Amino acid sequence: MPDDETETRTDNRVSHPIFARFYARASAAMERGGIGEHRDRLLAGLAGRVIEVGAGNGLNFTHYPPQVERVLAIEPDPHLRSLAEQAATQAPVPVEVVSGVADRLPAADAAFDAAVVSLVLCSVPDQARALAEVRRVVRGGGQLRFLEHVRADGPRLARLQRLLDATVWPVFGGGCHSGRDTVAAIQAAGFQITSIERFRFPDGRIPFPTAPHVRGAATRPDDDVHDTETR
Ligand SMILES: C[S@@+](CC[C@H](N)C(=O)[O-])C[C@H]1O[C@@H](n2cnc3c(N)ncnc32)[C@H](O)[C@@H]1O
Repeated sequence: MPDDETETRTDNRVSHPIFARFYARASAAMERGGIGEHRDRLLAGLAGRVIEVGAGNGLNFTHYPPQVERVLAIEPDPHLRSLAEQAATQAPVPVEVVSGVADRLPAADAAFDAAVVSLVLCSVPDQARALAEVRRVVRGGGQLRFLEHVRADGPRLARLQRLLDATVWPVFGGGCHSGRDTVAAIQAAGFQITSIERFRFPDGRIPFPTAPHVRGAATRPDDDVHDTETR
């Protein structure tokens, strides 16, 4: 679907100009802090056609392995999308950056061998709907790779996350929620988790609200009988 067609939809507009500029800078610091190693592991072994949802400023692009034939990168925010377009020119594999939202991916059913979400399922308005869309566009037997900050295991940090998510965090974080149970949402969407690693990033003495992370892979079952009608 051409870019201009996706941009005419009113529900495609996700624009957080202040957050987008903040993220463009903060993400560079996160790369220096080591998140890039997680991006490498997130994408290792991928091949074929890949859709990346909420690509931001395109920091995953240089980490795609050469076996990936092409990446369709969806990014709704205009500022981040233009940075992603620049990043795409440096990618080792063909990357096309288009406007779109997770709720309504501009892609055909089963068109991709894999989907990638990193630090995105915290921000989509409806995780179940976004993941249903991901399941729709990934072929049976295809993969979902995820790198997300998630709900804390410990009750104190989880309580702080709940408080922040009900107040300031989404307002200042471009719609981000610090403590979603994203792994449960991935499973509820019909994906089978095949690998998962839990880690803290950053790993300081005083835990940051978004420190608990997961990185992993899940498969859309071959005989997927989930209802794929999401529109
Ligand atoms: C924290 S940034 C992460 C960017 C990138 N994936 C990364 O790993 O650095 C969150 C991204 O989610 C995008 N986003 C927010 N709401 C979205 C939605 N409804 N659909 C798709 N992307 C969305 C934002 O525009 C932003 O690029």
